[in-house]
Amino acid sequence: MPLLLVLLFIQQDRSIAETERSIALLPDSLGQWYKPANKRQVWLHTMFALRRELQAVDEYAAEQELALMRKWSERFVKHFRSLPEMVPEWRDEIELDEAMRLEAAADRGDFDKVASAVSRLQRNCRNCHREYRALAALRYRSPDFSAIGIDNAPESRKEYPAFMEGLSRTVNRIKIASEDMQWSRAAAASARLREDLHHLAASCRSCHKDELPRSRILGEASMRTLDELDSALAGEEPKETGRKLGEAAVVICARCHGLHRTLSDTRNFLFE
Ligand code: HEC
Ligand code: HEC
Ligand code: HEC
Repeated sequence: MPLLLVLLFIQQDRSIAETERSIALLPDSLGQWYKPANKRQVWLHTMFALRRELQAVDEYAAEQELALMRKWSERFVKHFRSLPEMVPEWRDEIELDEAMRLEAAADRGDFDKVASAVSRLQRNCRNCHREYRALAALRYRSPDFSAIGIDNAPESRKEYPAFMEGLSRTVNRIKIASEDMQWSRAAAASARLREDLHHLAASCRSCHKDELPRSRILGEASMRTLDELDSALAGEEPKETGRKLGEAAVVICARCHGLHRTLSDTRNFLFE
């Protein structure tokens, strides 16, 4: 009997245990190679160069094109050596020895050794990417909504979280009022929702110079759904109201959240 109890406890413990996984966050010195600290996305562009250079070395080694292989190998090694100078915390993640073996093999014109150094270097690239690539893109290149304000009335500017809170209350007010047959309240909330979305749409321009992204989410199709919502409210139809409100929440709110909110929440959670 006592034994059984112990087993039950173990069982219970396991079912409430959360899986933990530790991740190494990014070294501080990486930030200086990205905007706004830097004028350009230097780290990212160095990466693109490395991939191109390694491809050229690999292809010219296979074709036994000695001069061209050496030219690209030199460029590659120069860029690869710059990595630990840019981010000293990553010195141990960057296999400079392997780059030196590539350089020596290219000098000797040993095509086989060049090819095998290339594939070992590619493994080095993958190892660092598995751990850090997504984090760096998230931290330095994903849209940052913390500085975006929404002008929702003359001389009134709201930050994203507060504005969103208001949107959510308005949507729920429509739902609650329509369920309770308070049709004029529901219609007033719906007018408010339209107005708020109009202000929100104007704020997309802070980042999007073109109209296309805005119109995908807050364009004609979404406005048609809001028109249909208003017709359902005017006709005092609870079921149709619920349906149209649900549709609006998907094509407007959920669609944008899938793109922008999930990333923004993750970024804030990890790095703020
Ligand atoms: C010490 C870590 C590290 C090493 C080693 C490394 N990288 Fe990267 N790489 C990164 C990080 C971090 C990013 C994400 C940068 C970003 O998204 O702004 C990245 C991104 C890239 C990208 C852009 C990916 C994309 O498609 O958007 C390319 C290309 C790339 N690396 C090539 C290489 C190559 C080729 C090598 C090996 C020769 C290499 N990297 C070695 C850290 C590393
Ligand atoms: C803080 C900057 C920022 C703000 C504000 C912002 N976006 Fe984006 N958005 C981006 C970035 C960056 C991308 C990815 C690159 C691109 O498509 O421009 C993106 C991508 C998108 C895409 C996918 C690309 C496409 O054209 O389908 C849509 C849709 C979109 N945004 C809609 C919106 C809407 C609607 C708003 C305003 C309500 C908005 N965004 C506000 C930065 C922002
Ligand atoms: C740009 C496209 C976009 C659209 C369209 C959008 N949201 Fe959001 N929403 C966001 C982003 C980004 C955040 C995270 C803001 C932050 O915390 O920095 C957010 C956060 C939220 C939050 C959490 C606020 C908090 O307390 O942190 C709620 C609630 C919310 N949105 C409701 C809505 C509703 C309801 C709609 C539709 C009527 C909507 N949103 C439409 C982008 C959007």
